[in-house]
Amino acid sequence: MIDKNSPLPIYYQIQEMIRKKIDTGQWQPGDMLPSERIFSEDFDVSRMTVRQAVTELAKEGVLQREKGKGTFVAEPKIEQPLQGLTSFTEDMKARGLKPGSALVQYQLRKAPKKVAEALQTSTDTQVYEIKRVRMADDVPMAYETTFINKEIAGDLPEDVENRSIYSFLEQEKNLKIGGGEQTFEASLANTEEAENLAIEEGAPVLLIQRATYLEDGTPLEYVKSAYRGDRYKFTINMPR
Ligand code: GLP
Repeated sequence: MIDKNSPLPIYYQIQEMIRKKIDTGQWQPGDMLPSERIFSEDFDVSRMTVRQAVTELAKEGVLQREKGKGTFVAEPKIEQPLQGLTSFTEDMKARGLKPGSALVQYQLRKAPKKVAEALQTSTDTQVYEIKRVRMADDVPMAYETTFINKEIAGDLPEDVENRSIYSFLEQEKNLKIGGGEQTFEASLANTEEAENLAIEEGAPVLLIQRATYLEDGTPLEYVKSAYRGDRYKFTINMPR
C-alpha cells in the first residue's frame, strides 16, 4: 500500500491510509492504533516516519495520544451550526450531549477598557466577570470569560455553575436577548486556557468574541471564549 517511488512523502501516505480506515469505519472512535514498532515493521518504514504521520493526525484532532497508554482514534469533532444566537447549554442539548460547566472565577469589578467599549459604557461601570469551563458529556470544550453589565442585568447569583446564564437572564430576570455579533479567530491556547481545557499550551483554539444585545439594542454581555480546535468545528449554510 505504501509506494516508495511516489512523489508523495511516505509519512503522508501513512497518514492518509490511517485517515481512510477511520473514514470508512474500519477503525472506530476509542480504538487503539497498533504500536509504532508494529506499524514500522508492517510497512518497512522507520519509526520516525510513522511518528510523523501520527503527529500530524493528532494535531488535527483525528487521533488522540494518551501518555503511557497509546494512540487512539478520537471522537469526531462537535459540529456547531452557525444559526442565530444560541447558548452553550442549548447547543449541547441540541446535539444530545450533557452540558456542564465548572466555575473558575466570579467577581464584580469595574469594566476593563475593552469590555467598556464593547458594552458601550464607561470604565466606572460595574460588571460581573465570570470564568467558566464549558463541558460536553463532562469533557472540557471551551473556556469562557463572560462580562455582564450589572446596571442592565441586576444582581446575578454566584451559583452559576452548571446553569445556563441565558436562561437565567431570560426566565428569571425577564430580559429579552435580541441578538449579537461574533468574531472568530485562529489562536493558540495560552497558559490559563490550556490548564482549564486540559490541553497543551500552544494547542490550536478557536477564539470567539461575542457581544450580546437586548431587543432594544442595549449591550448586555461581552464574552471571550476559547473553543478547543481539536474537538470543535463550525458549519454554516450558505444559500446563494
Ligand atoms: C455560548 C457563547 C457565550 C454565551 C454562552 C451562554 O457559549 N459562546 O457567548 O455567553 O453561550 O451559555 P449558557 O446560557 O449555557 O450559560
